[in-house]
Amino acid sequence: MKRNYYALYIVLFIASICLNYKAYGQHNAAKSFPDRIILNLAEDASTSIAVTWRTDLNTKEGFCELQSITPTRINPTNTQSFKAKTTRVKYGYDGEPTIEANQHSFVFTDLEPGEKYLYRVGKENSWSEWLEFKLPSREKSKFSFIYFGDPQSNIKSEWSRVIRKAYSFSPNCSFMLYGGDIINRAGRDLEWEEWFMAGSYIYGMVPQVLTPGNHDYSGLKIDPHWKYQFTQPGNGPEEVKNTCYFSDYKNLKIISIDSATENELRDENGSALKSQKAWLDSLLTVNTKDWVIVTTHLPFYSSKETRDNPILRKHFQPILEKHGVDMVLTGHDHSYGRGTASDFSEEPSIVYVVSVSGPKLSKVSDKEWMQVKGSNIQLFQEISIEENRLHYKAFTADGELFDEFKIKKRANGKSEFIELHTKINSFQMME
Ligand SMILES: [Fe+2]
Repeated sequence: MKRNYYALYIVLFIASICLNYKAYGQHNAAKSFPDRIILNLAEDASTSIAVTWRTDLNTKEGFCELQSITPTRINPTNTQSFKAKTTRVKYGYDGEPTIEANQHSFVFTDLEPGEKYLYRVGKENSWSEWLEFKLPSREKSKFSFIYFGDPQSNIKSEWSRVIRKAYSFSPNCSFMLYGGDIINRAGRDLEWEEWFMAGSYIYGMVPQVLTPGNHDYSGLKIDPHWKYQFTQPGNGPEEVKNTCYFSDYKNLKIISIDSATENELRDENGSALKSQKAWLDSLLTVNTKDWVIVTTHLPFYSSKETRDNPILRKHFQPILEKHGVDMVLTGHDHSYGRGTASDFSEEPSIVYVVSVSGPKLSKVSDKEWMQVKGSNIQLFQEISIEENRLHYKAFTADGELFDEFKIKKRANGKSEFIELHTKINSFQMME
């Protein structure tokens, strides 16, 4: 009799583990209603914008409805309807349930610059809520965007407060830009679930602009989520089509360089390194935008004592300097460093920033290139551009101003750098 009780206990114990495992594994599963709705900037941000979302496999097709913004009740009969591209995907990660879903993607084109729109995604009986976005006008009037260094770890519990603080500081920001290592373990859908939970409806209203880091790669392969859950411009070289690209936003050209590909570009003969160099040089040769900002994961100058990326500098810095790129925003080193330096020029002008928004933090080094630095601190940046003036502010996760400067472009094409961080009373390096 006693033995039977033991057997029953063991069966119940195993059953409870299985049930719990299933519940744990499936909370990131897709449903019939759209989730993970995200906007991405298109090549010409003033007339186009991309949207991507996810459903379960029973929802076999997806539609977008679009109309001009209204102050009154939304009348669905006023909408234009578009059918999205639907791709069946399977995301697997060792030891965790495989997630199967349909990813739906659509690019709205031929829109009116400067206009506000309402849109929703899904299909009959399973629509998302109506979300709004605003396109930039063609004028050089003021706009701001947010920059995040690596979110990477503890995204739900500790990064979520950073994106929410940034959005509360700059609710009308034009887009949010990332420097890679969005999650920690490439391919792990549970971590993407945390990232989408952290930003929630913000992603459906503010376009996200993402470059990958080494943690977004597994060996030489990028996490497949990058191809299917984002719809980035795809105007870069074939080898890195979804991760090296550009967008034009008013008088700014934003460029993503994929420095995580080919094992952090360690092979100087790698095709992705060569093609990105050629693409970047030709793109900047015909550039007509006043400002050029590059985002890439690896720092040109490292803020960490034990790290350096001379191959990146050797191949890309001469191109950036030749074409007068203004700023390079990076991550990877989990501390803060900001400075102007060059391996090639006597008069360096590019501002290099290393920053981190997530809670994986480390100590900054004493390297000379940094004019401002910080250890053990989570940050976000608000960068504003108005005609020939750029205003950079770095804020801590609790909303304190940590670093600040301005750049003014003179009529002769030269830039004037205006240091402002010395005026920040609360400034101190965290140890
Ligand atoms: Fe990294």
